[in-house]
Amino acid sequence: MNYNFFDKLEIVGGNKLFGTFKNQTSKNAVLPIMSASIMSSGVVKINQVPDIVDVTNMKKILRKLGVKIKKQKNDLILDPREIKNFKVDENLSKTMRSSIFLLGALLSKFKVANITLPGGCTIGARPIDLHIEALKKLNVLVTEHEKGFSFDATHARAGKVKLKIPSVGATENVVQFAITLSGKTTIYNPAREPEVVDLCNFLNAMGAKIVGAGTKKITIYGVDSLNGAQYKPIKDRIVAGTIMVATAITKGSVTIIDGCAKENKSLIKILSSMGCQIDIKNDIINVSREGELKNTNIVTGYFPKFPTDLQSIMLPLLCLAEVESKVKEKVFENRFLMVKELNRMGANITLFDAQTALVRGSTALRGRTVKATDLRGGAGLVVAGLVAKGKTIVSDVHYIDRGYDHIENMLFSLGADIRRVCQKQK
Ligand code: EPZ
Repeated sequence: MNYNFFDKLEIVGGNKLFGTFKNQTSKNAVLPIMSASIMSSGVVKINQVPDIVDVTNMKKILRKLGVKIKKQKNDLILDPREIKNFKVDENLSKTMRSSIFLLGALLSKFKVANITLPGGCTIGARPIDLHIEALKKLNVLVTEHEKGFSFDATHARAGKVKLKIPSVGATENVVQFAITLSGKTTIYNPAREPEVVDLCNFLNAMGAKIVGAGTKKITIYGVDSLNGAQYKPIKDRIVAGTIMVATAITKGSVTIIDGCAKENKSLIKILSSMGCQIDIKNDIINVSREGELKNTNIVTGYFPKFPTDLQSIMLPLLCLAEVESKVKEKVFENRFLMVKELNRMGANITLFDAQTALVRGSTALRGRTVKATDLRGGAGLVVAGLVAKGKTIVSDVHYIDRGYDHIENMLFSLGADIRRVCQKQK
């Protein structure tokens, strides 16, 4: 189904969620895997790709580079053998932060790359200094110009890289770049997110030799080329987490298939401590809540700590806890954007600083017309609307459509009173 930029979501609160939810494939696994496919000397098939705006944008960027892309039901077939240029389309790269993941793949394939600054987004400046620092360590020449950066890897060589911050994007770029560097490249303090591990598994399926993904040291042994492959990326732990919180906030009972139980350990621990019943068997998660919600304190961090991407989604749930909870956001500098909108719905959240929020409990949420401020903040407002008294209208749903494959269908199928109001371009 097509998304329109001006769509809105209308939610009438009060329905409990019941039923079974089949999780979607992970946005943050699919995007780097799509970009890494350009390094292949053959055709790549990616299974069960979600219908989300970021995938649509990544397809546009790859097609502009000369990659042939076909859709076969929910699978994508990518043929990178006739890629002509290495310049990522400037306007498209501005629409999507994840285009920065192309840097490592382009450098690995062409030994040169031009990246327009992907630009920040609402949750933060999203700099790329760690990407640049790491590539320079591998003797890549980096030149800054007014629109972005040029990279020259003609004299690059394998070596050691230590990341100051375990950045997901920087790790994924260095891994992709190092694949065709002859010799051994080691990354210390890499990101350990499941999506990074999945990218490395995909690259190994294409013939790369990467060891240690998911640990504190990743080693890449250079190979001459990568073959085509068929690959089924992991499921989306943040979408599964969103459905768990939506079930908890409505006092429902939902079975989540491919719920990413292992990857969602920190969320499951928090929800259980708040009074939810959670049973897990073979990655099928049964979540329900009958009693009152206890408060908790959340500190976000790098995997396996509590994911920053679930912080906004937890805020409405914390509003319903008996007493106050404290939330510390330690990954992004501006990730409480949706608090203003949530407070307009009756929440009572105080921001002590950009990283610390105090969420007072026992607050009744009321339906309002609110604006999504970012992808996960928007999902948080939808979760709030499920339990707010009356009707909530969420505008700027295009943020949410970047990562959720029709969030309204997910929730409607579980009994929520929610519908998309399609607004044609004004
Ligand atoms: C990835 O973004 C995810 N996006 C984000 O998910 C996720 O929130 C984030 O990792 C953290 O887990 C994709 O995978 C497409 P980082 P990324 O580099 O790679 C700072 C979502 O909602 N930093 O790990 O951009 C940065 O500012 C999205 O699905 C530098 O300072 O995140 C941030 O504070 C949102 N310099 C921290 O590191 C750099 O060069 C972590 O960023 C790079 C990052």
